[in-house]
Amino acid sequence: MSRRRTKGPRRSSGRGMRELSVRVKTARGRKLSSTRWLQRQLNDPYVQRAKAEGYRGRAAYKIMELDDRFHFLKPGGRVVDLGCAPGGWTQVAVERVNARGEKPGRRRGRVIGVDLREVESIAGAELHRLDFMAEGADEKVRDWLGGKADVVMSDMAASATGHRQTDHLRIMALAEAAAELAFDVLEEGGTFVAKVLEGGAQAELQKRLKRGFAKVLNVKPPASRADSAEKYVVALGFRGAPSRAEEPPQDDGGAGRSGSPTEDKRNR
Ligand SMILES: C[S@@+](CC[C@H](N)C(=O)[O-])C[C@H]1O[C@@H](n2cnc3c(N)ncnc32)[C@H](O)[C@@H]1O
Repeated sequence: MSRRRTKGPRRSSGRGMRELSVRVKTARGRKLSSTRWLQRQLNDPYVQRAKAEGYRGRAAYKIMELDDRFHFLKPGGRVVDLGCAPGGWTQVAVERVNARGEKPGRRRGRVIGVDLREVESIAGAELHRLDFMAEGADEKVRDWLGGKADVVMSDMAASATGHRQTDHLRIMALAEAAAELAFDVLEEGGTFVAKVLEGGAQAELQKRLKRGFAKVLNVKPPASRADSAEKYVVALGFRGAPSRAEEPPQDDGGAGRSGSPTEDKRNR
């Protein structure tokens, strides 16, 4: 069986995969946590399937499952993929929006991927190395896009500290920054998807999204590990950014939440 997938039928979720059970022996010099990680990887049907189908990681199946349910990646779609490394979501988006023009007679889409890390090139995608939380990052993405987008999706995540509240706040700051870009660039009817962690800041984001989108849901796709607290907020049917006047006042010492558009978003 070919390990590399270039084109073919639309893939769906990895459920129904044959369960494998590989035991990993502890080895001298390998920590117990690394042995556990390796064992989990080797026994994960999504990892097996990603290898067999040529996707860069099991995360590809999360966006596939979300799109199988909500149908936001359509031929001709313009997609911004934030936190795209190593590239699983980007590969799925390229296929589904027809960014390589492989679906004859269908409109050709566009996928712009952004990550802190260098991403190996993906045919059909425009990849940029950028810290999306840095000063002026959103302007750069807007320039690359040069117009509207149909989908803004973010799988951005900072490395986990293990401290629940810190991890929650860090991931929510990334999701909020992605939502601000979505409010700026989405076409009417567009979709926003972002990784979130349950907690207080998530409810705040949800409230803000509900003012700009027809429908907002929190979803845990089957490919998201059951022992992970991550979920995805899916906001459908963009209606336009809610005006700041509609928003409740923020207790920010009078500085205003958004500050300068070029301010580092970590300090907002
Ligand atoms: C879970 S991975 C994304 C996996 C990806 N969706 C895929 O399918 O391959 C999270 C990514 O978010 C990126 N990230 C975290 N903070 C970021 C930031 N401030 N700007 C850009 N990317 C960021 C990380 O570098 C990491 O590659």
